[in-house]
Parts: sequence; C-alpha cells; structure tokens
Amino acid sequence: MLSVFLVLLLPTVSEACDDPPRFKTMKLQGELKHNYYPGECVQYECRLGFKPKVPALPRSAVCQDNDTWSSLQEACVEKSCPNLGDPVNGQVNFVNGSVLFGSQAHFDCNLGFYLIGAKILYCEISGDNVDWSDNLPVCEVILCAAPGNITNGRFTHYKEVYQYGEVVMYRCNPSNGPDEYSLIGGTTLICVDHNRWSSDPPECKVVKCDYPIVQYGSIVSGFRGKYYYNVQVVFRCHDGFYLQGSNIIVCGANGTWEPELPKCTKDSLPSEPPGKPELKHVHFYLNKGPSGNVRCSMLCLLMRSFES
Ligand SMILES: *[C@@H]1O[C@H](CO)[C@@H](O)[C@H](O)[C@H]1NC(C)=O
Ligand SMILES: *[C@@H]1O[C@H](CO)[C@@H](O)[C@H](O)[C@H]1NC(C)=O
Repeated sequence: MLSVFLVLLLPTVSEACDDPPRFKTMKLQGELKHNYYPGECVQYECRLGFKPKVPALPRSAVCQDNDTWSSLQEACVEKSCPNLGDPVNGQVNFVNGSVLFGSQAHFDCNLGFYLIGAKILYCEISGDNVDWSDNLPVCEVILCAAPGNITNGRFTHYKEVYQYGEVVMYRCNPSNGPDEYSLIGGTTLICVDHNRWSSDPPECKVVKCDYPIVQYGSIVSGFRGKYYYNVQVVFRCHDGFYLQGSNIIVCGANGTWEPELPKCTKDSLPSEPPGKPELKHVHFYLNKGPSGNVRCSMLCLLMRSFES
C-alpha cells in the first residue's frame, strides 16, 4: 500500500526545482511560488541598502531540465553613506574601514574636550537610500563649576569656572573649641570632566578616639594627649604576655580604633594548628640534625630495616 503511494508521489515531486537560491544582497522580485518547473525564470532585485554592481551582473536564474537552478552570484553591493570629516577638536574613526551600509563611525574628542551628541553613528537605511543614524556630534571644551562648600573648611582659589585639569585644595578651619578639625576624604579635587570633579569634597569635623588602654601592654609609639583622626598607635605586651590582635591601630573616621584594640594574655597562642600526632612524630624523627645526618629514632630504624 505504502509503496504504491510512493510510486505515485515521487514523479510529481521530482519534476520541479527547489525554492530559488537566497542572496545576501538581493531578493526575489514578486512572490515566492510553491513550485517552479523547468524553463521558468526568476528575477532578483537589490535589497534595501544595496545597489547593482558596476559593471552589471545577471540578476535572473532559470529552472533547468535537471531540476536545478542555473548558477547566479551576488549582483549588488552596499550603498555608501556620505563621507564624514573629523569634528573640530576631535576625531572620527571608521571602525569598519569604510562608510558602506552597515558600517559605524566612532567619535572621540581631544583631551580637555567632551562629546555632545552620539558617540557612534551607524550607516543605515533612510527612506530608499542609506544615511548616518544621527547628526555629527561636536566636541566642547570641558569646564567645571566651583566644587561644593563644606562646613568648618574651605578650598583655595575660588572661581566661577575651572578648566580641565585645574585643582582646588581643601583645608579645615582652625577650631574655636578644645578639639581641632580633621579633614576626612581627599584634600585635592581635580576637574576631570565636564562639571565633574575627581571626588566629592572632604568633610571637616572633630574625630576623636578614646585613649587606648591595653591591660598588660604599653604604647611603644604614638603616645599623646588626644587621639584624632588617622593617628596611629603601636603596642607591646609586658614580658610574659602575648599579643592577640594587631599591634598597630589607627583612629578611624567614625571615632573608633581600627582594627579593634589588641589584648595581652598570659597564655601563648597555639603555634601550630592541631594535626595528626603520628605523622608529626615520624616527620620529626626524619628531620636532619645539626650534623646534616639523618637523626633516627628507634621507630625510624625499624622502618628502615623493613625497607631493606
Ligand atoms: C544540471 O544541468 C546543468 C546544465 O545542463 C549543468 O550545468 C549542471 O551541472 C546540472 N546539474 C546537476 C546536478 O546535474
Ligand atoms: C563594524 O565594526 C564593529 C566594531 O568592530 C563591529 O561590531 C561590526 O560588526 C562591524 N560591522 C560590519 C558591517 O562589519
């Protein structure tokens, strides 16, 4: 039953060409048909964004007697977008090496200038032609408005407008009270981009840490009456006591010691992490002694005698 069906079906299927070949630069004129029979001809036209090659190549194919299409090659090429020059105070870079349909133009400004507009233009379809996706960007000179004022401090050389690379320096005011102000953050700000400084302005405030007391320990360096921001203190434990924690601490911006105060304790810290005692034992006895010879224990000698 099935074989009869196949015999009936096969001849009708084989008496036609497959779908016409597809191309990157051109498309079929008119509708795609269900069947193409020997002798039938198909016409191609350039796709949007493409134009006929010069000199012109054939743009049609015929369904041959052996049910294959006559050979045909790409007959269209990309259209070109208008040429672009460098913007004033900047450069254009044609990353695809051309201004053909599908290519990109990347823009950069010289040092001290910033880009207004699109950084990348695309050569794309526009109506029935191709054109750049946007207007040419422009390079403008970078300027910074004065950075922010801060309480208890000021910056030097106030101006309305600063140029690229210009620097202001902050200082804290002298204090009227018993404690001086500490400057927290960067002292120096640089105009790095249009209206952008290298960092936020610093803060000026009183930052004081408690007098650092470590029982059974003493301050080796950094001894003073008051401990302000960024002051460093170094500790040592009294003889017979062992330091736990860091021997160097710094007064942090929120008025606490960083890291936390160390401790001096009577017990020594375990110098090695606990391991397998048997392995350590063997290892110890296999170590070379001062003479350079292997110092052997009874266990080691025993092991050797088994080996030989
Ligand atoms: C089909 O016929 C054409 C022209 O006669 C020939 O060039 C081509 O090689 C043939 N193709 C096959 C697959 O036999
Ligand atoms: C153009 O270059 C860009 C960047 O190298 C790449 O991503 C893109 O695919 C290229 N376009 C074409 C059409 O070659």
